[in-house]
Amino acid sequence: NENRKGNENKKQEQLEQFRSNDQGKEMTTNQGLKLSEDEFSLKAGERGPTLMEDFHFREKMTHFDHERIPERVVHARGFAAHGEFELYESMKEYTSAKFLQDPLVKTPVFVRFSTVAGSRGSAETVRDVRGFATKFYTEEGNFDLVGNNIPVFFIQDAIKFPDLIHAVKPEPHNEMPQAASAHDTFWDFVANNQESAHMVMWHMSDRAIPRSFRMMEGFGVHTFRFVNDQGKAHFVKFHWKPVLGVHSLVWDEAQKISGKDPDFHRRDLWEAIEMGQYVEFELGVQLIDEAEEFSFDFDILDPTKIWPEEDIPVRIIGKMTLNRNVDNVFAETEQVAFHPGHIVPGIDFTNDPLLQGRLFSYTDTQLIRLGGPNFHELPINRPVCPFHNNQRDGYGRQTINKGQVSYHNNSLANNTPKPVSGVEGGFVHYQEKIEGHKVRRRSDSFKDHFSQATMFWNSMSQPEQMHIIDAFSFELGKVMSFSVRQQVVDMFSNVNAEMAAAVADAIGVTPPGAKKSNITKSSPALSQLNTKKTPYT
Ligand code: HEM
Repeated sequence: NENRKGNENKKQEQLEQFRSNDQGKEMTTNQGLKLSEDEFSLKAGERGPTLMEDFHFREKMTHFDHERIPERVVHARGFAAHGEFELYESMKEYTSAKFLQDPLVKTPVFVRFSTVAGSRGSAETVRDVRGFATKFYTEEGNFDLVGNNIPVFFIQDAIKFPDLIHAVKPEPHNEMPQAASAHDTFWDFVANNQESAHMVMWHMSDRAIPRSFRMMEGFGVHTFRFVNDQGKAHFVKFHWKPVLGVHSLVWDEAQKISGKDPDFHRRDLWEAIEMGQYVEFELGVQLIDEAEEFSFDFDILDPTKIWPEEDIPVRIIGKMTLNRNVDNVFAETEQVAFHPGHIVPGIDFTNDPLLQGRLFSYTDTQLIRLGGPNFHELPINRPVCPFHNNQRDGYGRQTINKGQVSYHNNSLANNTPKPVSGVEGGFVHYQEKIEGHKVRRRSDSFKDHFSQATMFWNSMSQPEQMHIIDAFSFELGKVMSFSVRQQVVDMFSNVNAEMAAAVADAIGVTPPGAKKSNITKSSPALSQLNTKKTPYT
């Protein structure tokens, strides 16, 4: 089908225009001047000083001096690939998003996987959350699904994100450790911000040491909104399901691999694609009718809560295939700018207080990371559809805007860009009814920090529960402050008392309620735990 082919190659064709081919070419300066020498700088005499006049030396060195840009403030260590998305069934009933209408149309995508806490050169198999960010280059503009491999988050409100990251990142006085969680400030934050409980359970589970980027789930985390062409809305959560299934390392493997091959995950992804073993994820959605907004014992806008899949099944609607490695890591993987606010008609936000804050943060950070307001013109960030507006100038501007008039409305020109109505494809914000007082608080169910954390624990098999106890014991065992160790153990006794007691035993603090744990590695006591299986994914 011609239509299919056209769409999937659109981004590749666009990038092709920017690719350089320097092989076998004559060397020149950036001004195009052919060079006759590239090894000796210009000297005043054979043994004399270098001359200021040596423009080639100056240009080469200046460019080198400016080769580095700031790494991402979080998710600095990442790896990416190109691919395509195909829809299995039309989602017309729920959303007017064009790329979700016609199963014949393929959409080009670019996906960047990452760790969160470590710096750009850190090891890849550390215990950490993994980022899973997808850019869909749709005909209506870029849609970014900027997710993680864990379906909930540490905090409920964006205003706490700087605090969270200050606690998670290497400590400021000695810049240790690169690992996300084996240190005092991380656990001090957890114990004193107990909404983190559910996420920390996932973080201590095998989910935080994936076997491969190809074998982990992705989650949009927040509640978004689908709006159909009749203006009817549904709440939606997005899921990526790896076709290879979910697989993790065990901690001992993860640690050894960190030493032997810190590039383990990128190598795995790169090699799979080079060998033609393309990487597949199915896209799933959970949908809740607007009328059902208050039908749950949790607030569906709370990002520390999942929507249990046995109540709200995941409907698989399409598949993404990653089939092409990048040509240049800097130009593509580093310069790509994802943003949860990049949406298309038919998809909208909700009032999840974490999502609302993210909508500010990404452009703000990219303005400094990518050097000014024109990073949307970088090849990897350009939409495949045309873009026109009255924005002008700024650092690194590449577009040559013609004409006298760059404002709206005007009478001097009749062909400047104009907004169009919703019927013509213009984005219209969903007209949600808002009422209430300005307050700095959320609904009461946001205060239930432990029910779903307990559900998660109960859904784990015995070996998985043992891994969680081991992970807590290892990570907390690195904490210098015994007060912090104790606070954490006390906190997690709200999830499962025996789990907390086993951790307390392992790290030399008092078991909550001074209850001694019977759990040891060789003990069958683990089977005494409340391991009632809750269908929970
Ligand atoms: C990257 C902020 C929560 C997923 C980033 C970056 C910032 C940021 C500043 C660096 C972006 C760049 O330099 O291009 C925030 C804030 C949050 C938040 C303020 C909460 C208020 C989340 C959540 C998720 C997430 C809940 C997952 C659902 C990601 C991913 C990246 C990222 C995947 C890396 C994107 C890439 O690969 O370039 N975040 N974040 N973040 N964030 Fe968040």
